[in-house]
Amino acid sequence: MKTPAAADASPKGVNRGVAPVTYGTGDRPPRGDYGRARSDYTCEQDHAQYTAADHDTYRRLYARQLQQLPGLACDEFIAAVAHLGSPERIPHFDAISERLQRATGWQVVGVPGLIPEEAFFALLAERKFPVTDWIRQPEEFDYVVEPDIFHDLFGHVPLLFVPAFADYMQAYGAGGLKASRLDACELLARLYWYTVEFGLIATPQGLRAYGAGILSSAGELRHSITAPAAQRVAFDLQRLMRSRYRIDTYQASYFVIDSFQQLFEATAPDFTPVYGQVRAQINLHGEIEAGVVLPGERSFSV
Ligand SMILES: [Fe+2]
Repeated sequence: MKTPAAADASPKGVNRGVAPVTYGTGDRPPRGDYGRARSDYTCEQDHAQYTAADHDTYRRLYARQLQQLPGLACDEFIAAVAHLGSPERIPHFDAISERLQRATGWQVVGVPGLIPEEAFFALLAERKFPVTDWIRQPEEFDYVVEPDIFHDLFGHVPLLFVPAFADYMQAYGAGGLKASRLDACELLARLYWYTVEFGLIATPQGLRAYGAGILSSAGELRHSITAPAAQRVAFDLQRLMRSRYRIDTYQASYFVIDSFQQLFEATAPDFTPVYGQVRAQINLHGEIEAGVVLPGERSFSV
């Protein structure tokens, strides 16, 4: 049986350098039946095993998030979310993949749950997004420790229909494989955290969310855009890589991009020298705690 990296099990460990895919894990074995997984950790989505209660959980989660999106989620996300298909039942991955293939060449693949970072990076580099195929229990409606199918599908997949973001995700996977060899996964995990999971984007109408951790959260969507206590700092790659993050509560800091193209371009170059520069900055000045705005830094007020 294949199991995800056990070293990633401690929440405290996230800031010490663990995989971006393992955020929010607790002190217990990962959930999911890994006996079903292939060597690349993917598995068939056994759609027939979903119960009426599973479909109902999906329907209620979807409905709750959808009504919150206007004014808080970015337009690209709102426009793309319909590509997931019917909000009434858990979708078939194959049907979404067909639409994604036509739009950006991506597909979604099933996984039993959290997977090791190298396997995750390898799938992204092949334009395959791993989606956990189980859904939370009704008693976990408001909070589930590990990402489930709702987080992975609703939070992550719509923006894979947007070409610039889709290209960024593939580049991230390729960069991750390289970071593994350079022992730089902790720095790269911060990029994933503060963009793919908790990113904000500036628009003429104001700040909007594009991060999946925000968009799939009942409470953080509004918090991220409207809470005066949170800091919102202009995206800067090296600054971001020096920044710690919180996994046990809403974010104290968010990073704001101007466009998905900016994100793709900022992260397109080889990160090898960037890692060296960030490490030198950390050695000199230390890491930056969440919730801090540095002198002279561009931040956004709400
Ligand atoms: Fe996620």
